[in-house]
Amino acid sequence: MTDLHDWRETGGEQQEEKGFLVGVHIKGSRPLLNVEDSLDELSLLAATANIKVIGRTYQQLERPHPATLIGSGKLEEIREAVAASGATVIIFDDELNPRHQRELEKAFGEEIKVIDRSALILDIFAQHAQTREGALQVELAQYEYRLPRLTRQWTHLARQTGGGAARAGGGGVGLRGPGETQLEVDRREISRRITQLKKELEAVRAHRSRHRQQRQEAGIPVVALVGYTNAGKSTLLNALTAANTYTADKLFATLDPIMRRITLPGGKEVLCSDTVGFIQKLPTTLVAAFRATLEEIAEASLILHVADVSHPNVAQQIESVEDTLAELDLPPVPRILALNKIDLLGEGDPPTEIDAYAAEYEAVVPLSAITGAGLDILIKEIERVLTLRMKTIRVLIPYARGDLVSYVHKHGVVLREEHTEDGVILTAQVTLETLARLSAVDVVQEMSHRSS
Ligand code: GTP
Repeated sequence: MTDLHDWRETGGEQQEEKGFLVGVHIKGSRPLLNVEDSLDELSLLAATANIKVIGRTYQQLERPHPATLIGSGKLEEIREAVAASGATVIIFDDELNPRHQRELEKAFGEEIKVIDRSALILDIFAQHAQTREGALQVELAQYEYRLPRLTRQWTHLARQTGGGAARAGGGGVGLRGPGETQLEVDRREISRRITQLKKELEAVRAHRSRHRQQRQEAGIPVVALVGYTNAGKSTLLNALTAANTYTADKLFATLDPIMRRITLPGGKEVLCSDTVGFIQKLPTTLVAAFRATLEEIAEASLILHVADVSHPNVAQQIESVEDTLAELDLPPVPRILALNKIDLLGEGDPPTEIDAYAAEYEAVVPLSAITGAGLDILIKEIERVLTLRMKTIRVLIPYARGDLVSYVHKHGVVLREEHTEDGVILTAQVTLETLARLSAVDVVQEMSHRSS
């Protein structure tokens, strides 16, 4: 198996890769995007990975060819097109199973790299991973993806261990035990690395879960930004934290670097977290690898789904994000849909179909993270929806716990304060997070409440 990462390393100097895209449509199937739109998206992914797309094709099939995915006629046609155009890499839009991978590599020969959308996404993620956990997750996903696909083209380990000649079938340099093929050595090496990466990830995660606990103890609600790749999550997060009347533009230093603190107009503080961008046909290994990060979403009090309303496939992108969220099996959390990039909508464009989503979201807010239009409405809606989740409680706090009295004043809305022999009785509207914080004392009365 060759992947982008491997061949980028070869030869020292970086050559421009030229890519040829191949899509497949199985008759009767109903994919989220039609084959042309999906290839357009693949083309953008290729560009992100610095591959110049110089041709594309697709095939309609009754069923996938068991050995080569596409039929032999199409294969021949692609071989000719690739030779004529000077393409160096063929990128399949669908995940190739290990057999397809092997047979296609054989068919196209050693000079042409064969990869699929998954390998491409993994490569982009590897380039973009910013945190240590992100880098470890991608590396693990890459190895898990490669393990069943190792073929003689795969030379990464050989280089890593300094044995340039160590290709399967060629001469290994001191790597092999008696009777082992290079492929077996590679497999063993990868399995060892996978185990090691899992251990490292566990350590990083234990650290992060301690942070999460601190956050929960601090009782600050978390707003998780989710969205299709390129929807504008990071831009919106920056805009929210820079909208200076309401926000403090500072990193919440002791937490994850992608957590930022915002102060809402009523004075309440929330933490906003950015998450990995979603994409249709997200590789299964990657969904699994990022599950832990995405679990942060499960801790959120509010999910802010950011969509690019100027994109022709915005409805499909929203659906794809919803599908991935559904896979995560989240507890019911209120959601707001931010329809971003309204500045790109022209006069003649159809009106934004807010009604279509109104039922599933507490609020739908058209906005532009770049111009700032609609940001004030979004902030008000975040505040309103978080308040919806507030409960009105009566709580007896002993005088010894003056800290909790101040805490409720700071994080809730105190409606009444009575001083009794046993302590202070507060009647207050508090978030579920604050309620959890009060578990140390007696909550005298909890009134079910949806405040305005
Ligand atoms: P991933 O990292 O892929 O998940 O992307 P993201 O959702 O974080 O998107 P990001 O904030 O990186 O924005 C993607 C592109 O959209 C950038 O080029 C932004 O400048 C652009 N963009 C974001 N918001 C707006 C907007 O309101 N209007 C316009 N015109 N462009 C925007």
